[in-house]
Amino acid sequence: MVETKLLKYNSNDVAAAGEILRGGGIVGIPTETVYGLAANAFDGATVAKIFKAKGRPQDNPLIVHVCDMAQVEQVVSFIPEAAFALAERFWPGPLSIIMPKSSRIPDEVSCGLDTVAVRMPSHKAALDIIRAAGVPLAAPSANLSGSPSPTTAQHVIDDMSGKADAILDGGSCDVGVESTVVSLVGDKPRLLRPGGISVEQLESVLGEIEIDSAVLAELSPGQKAASPGMKYKHYSPKCRVIIVKGSFDNFRRFVKNKKKSAALCFDGEGEKLGIPFIEIGREHDSSAQAHLLFEALRELDAMGVSTAYARCPDTDGVGLAVINRLLRAAAFTVIDVDGAAIIGLTGPTGSGKSTVAKYLTEKYGAAHIDCDLIAREIMQKNSPVLFQLAEVFGEDIIKPDGELDRGLLASRAFATKEGTKRLNSITHPIITSKALAKVKDFTLEGKTAVLLDAAAIFESKIDKLCAFTVVVTAPEETRLDRIMFRDSISREKALQRMNAQLSNAEYEAKADVVIHNYAPFDLGAETHKIIDRLKEIKP
Ligand code: TXA
Ligand code: MG
Repeated sequence: MVETKLLKYNSNDVAAAGEILRGGGIVGIPTETVYGLAANAFDGATVAKIFKAKGRPQDNPLIVHVCDMAQVEQVVSFIPEAAFALAERFWPGPLSIIMPKSSRIPDEVSCGLDTVAVRMPSHKAALDIIRAAGVPLAAPSANLSGSPSPTTAQHVIDDMSGKADAILDGGSCDVGVESTVVSLVGDKPRLLRPGGISVEQLESVLGEIEIDSAVLAELSPGQKAASPGMKYKHYSPKCRVIIVKGSFDNFRRFVKNKKKSAALCFDGEGEKLGIPFIEIGREHDSSAQAHLLFEALRELDAMGVSTAYARCPDTDGVGLAVINRLLRAAAFTVIDVDGAAIIGLTGPTGSGKSTVAKYLTEKYGAAHIDCDLIAREIMQKNSPVLFQLAEVFGEDIIKPDGELDRGLLASRAFATKEGTKRLNSITHPIITSKALAKVKDFTLEGKTAVLLDAAAIFESKIDKLCAFTVVVTAPEETRLDRIMFRDSISREKALQRMNAQLSNAEYEAKADVVIHNYAPFDLGAETHKIIDRLKEIKP
């Protein structure tokens, strides 16, 4: 623990910040994008302290901040023509340019790459502090790794108190999202991270540029990131974020009855929703949204909700940076409320949820997605998931014929809470994204409702993606008889299976609609409850 000095933006405190930086300290500084955690860029040992304070992965290089072109010459070995053009137009400002690094830049800054990202910030305090320090400053965003970037001094205090030597308060950051990162070291200029300067603005100087695939899509397992920072989970509040595409009316109907949830929505929408909300600027006003996004993500945690449903922003101009950050906060989970309604279908073993699924698909033309089947598919022979699981739970979970030994995996994974969590953290995101891809396909086929059928729908939190959830139940004695008959197993074995799941009461308490699948209830009348509910969602 160090004692963190709180500094103001005045000449005395700027001089003090400069002195701390020259003396090998790390300082939280304001910039026009987000606050940075700065150190002398030529001093590897001090830069290492930044990684420690943030808990930052060792392979994620830092941006070097300069106050003039003379400093640029100190940090790069060569300034490409295009860099002069970009600097002329956008510096000082929210643009980082990747160039070949000079020998003065230590490995701690570049993480072993032979390039360095350079940026001249426009915030007056940032420029004054760099001048006072007399050296270029390496500075990542001043948040704990994985958390939303800080846009006020208070955010930096929350994350870096006791870690940074000082924090200088320069007010709230204008832009609110980080700088645009563009690389000039390849054949063609390439956008690695969208930010305060838009693609349209870059192209007005450079002509057409390449957009790295990691900007809008998730890297597939093993794919190398051009910008190491893009591969990490980022900007995440503790609650789960889900991006919701579609009209406001459909959004409103979708979130209306959601428990323990909040909405991230546009100005003027919140009051109409009936759930807690944070407004992040007017619809179509990307600059306002950029300015408010990170603050909103931080606020979500203070609200104590478990899920946040975010309206989908525009993706042009600075909007590309907003959606890029939001996608990462949401771990790329996007649902479309204008598409087929997702109905979560579950129920304990023996309750007959397949009967209900069959009834709904045959009578009402609903599509059906079996998540348990997807789970099997993703763990097939030679699949990346299978290898990932073997790394965690032991090579011997793969049998000599290359297939998964389900029993062995289950005995290892479910032995501890930690193991179960590891297993789920590997499989659930992939199951979710595969299921959502199928929903998209069914929407294109013109389906209006999709049954998302999963035994562990609540445990896996797949229920959060659903318009509503349906639980099929039957008395335990009835279920016992059905299982024994269906699978020709003993009473003990059947009981064992039943006891491994939530109880009837637990299922029913979590469901939006309960279907009684046993006499004297009439299955037709029972399933009609689902159709009625669907009409509320899709009138
Ligand atoms: O607006 C900003 O850029 C803020 C303020 C403080 O200036 N800084 C910032 O730094 O966002 P950070 O460390 O949070 O993000 C830097 C990003 C990371 O995604 C990193 O991988 C990438 O820039 N980066 C840095 N040097 C790179 C290099 N040589 N090649 C490729 N990517 C690089
Ligand atoms: Mg960052």
